[in-house]
Amino acid sequence: MSPEPAAVEEMSRVQLAVVESVAPHLRHNPYDSYRILRAAGPFVPGPHDTHLVTRHTEAQAILIDPRWSHAEEPELLHGDSEVELPGSFLWMEPPDHTRLRGLVGKAFTSRTITGLQERATQLVDELLTAILAEGEVDLLETLAYPVPLTLICELLGVPAEAHEQVRVMSAGIARGLDPDLLLSPEELAARTKAVHEFTAFFGDLVEQRRKAPRDDLITALVQAEEAGVRLTHTELIGTLLILVVAGHETSVNLIGNGVLALIREPGEFQRLRADPDLAGPAVDEVLRYDAPVHLTTRTARAEITVGDRTFAPGDAVIVLLGSANRDPDAFPEPDRFDLGRYLPGRRTERHLSFGLGLHYCLGAPLARMEMRKVLHAFGSRVTGLTLLAEPPYRPNVVVRGMSELHVRVEGR
Ligand code: HEM
Repeated sequence: MSPEPAAVEEMSRVQLAVVESVAPHLRHNPYDSYRILRAAGPFVPGPHDTHLVTRHTEAQAILIDPRWSHAEEPELLHGDSEVELPGSFLWMEPPDHTRLRGLVGKAFTSRTITGLQERATQLVDELLTAILAEGEVDLLETLAYPVPLTLICELLGVPAEAHEQVRVMSAGIARGLDPDLLLSPEELAARTKAVHEFTAFFGDLVEQRRKAPRDDLITALVQAEEAGVRLTHTELIGTLLILVVAGHETSVNLIGNGVLALIREPGEFQRLRADPDLAGPAVDEVLRYDAPVHLTTRTARAEITVGDRTFAPGDAVIVLLGSANRDPDAFPEPDRFDLGRYLPGRRTERHLSFGLGLHYCLGAPLARMEMRKVLHAFGSRVTGLTLLAEPPYRPNVVVRGMSELHVRVEGR
């Protein structure tokens, strides 16, 4: 018996939503397709025999369970390409993951972040003063890029004159984090070039710091030692790559998405102006509402049951973080941008924008601190925010964000 026409129509609507949820030309709004996918179920068949994980409960259960491995992602998403991305502990399992994350964690402590606060305040203030003097600006160029790029480069010890070069290399690599099947031959070639340049550039800096140590993170990583085991050269480059790429491409989107949300929801902007200390909880609402990283993958290392579904060893899933964050079963009125959602006492469900479990974002305190400074400065100094043009989006699917954000900014 053939299925009912309504069932066929529903099936093709869901299939279309699968394609659209990762379509590079639809980055301005993946949320409509996420809604269709969530309604279709917690697991929806995706590309290459994967399953898309659409809802919060199941996404959380998978991320927190170490039997789900992240080590296969390079193979899963980039298996067809000739040039590999340098291995980072983001794609490793214990015991290597534990060893490397521990070493980096030693150099990248909360004290490091606290030490950066003053510099971040000063940097955001300077940039905002220049923006207010200009009046009409591309906010990505003038704020969202310079804040995280400057801070991560200064932390690492990259000389100021090379910051722009680091930005170009890491943009090429960030685009290349998307599944290879979504990349054009030119984009694949650009990734290869960026990876080679990155390896050479940071290889040189590492050698310089080995010979002449300084008070910076590259030196700390070169010297980091645990039980007599140091990072190998390849591990060092892989670690630097993840710190640089994850450390600013994502934060750029967080800042851009946050300012855009304030423009689209003037009532929430007025709320922030009335109480700039809302900046703290507001950071988490921006992260939830418009996630800078939209998906990650996991592969089952054993037979695992999640909800009413059992996966076999080797089964792969694509966890849609951006969809889980808008799940109405986890968040009341999930499509509403509510700056107070994460106020203490509201007991809001955690968002999954920094991942969870073993690979929970190591840079979360830095990213949160940067965004808090930006929101606080906007709340205290900006009186008017106007969108001058609908923002175009970059084609990036994993690290999703705008390519330009032209705005008029008024204030003092
Ligand atoms: C808004 C900004 C950021 C977002 C949304 C973000 C998001 C994420 C996510 C989702 C993961 C987990 C990936 C997975 O489980 O597959 C992750 C891991 C990671 N992030 Fe971030 N990140 C941000 C900023 C940063 C910064 C500033 C740094 C460092 C300077 C950083 C360094 C890392 C590292 C090293 C990992 C790997 C952790 C591990 O495998 O143990 N991130 N990040």
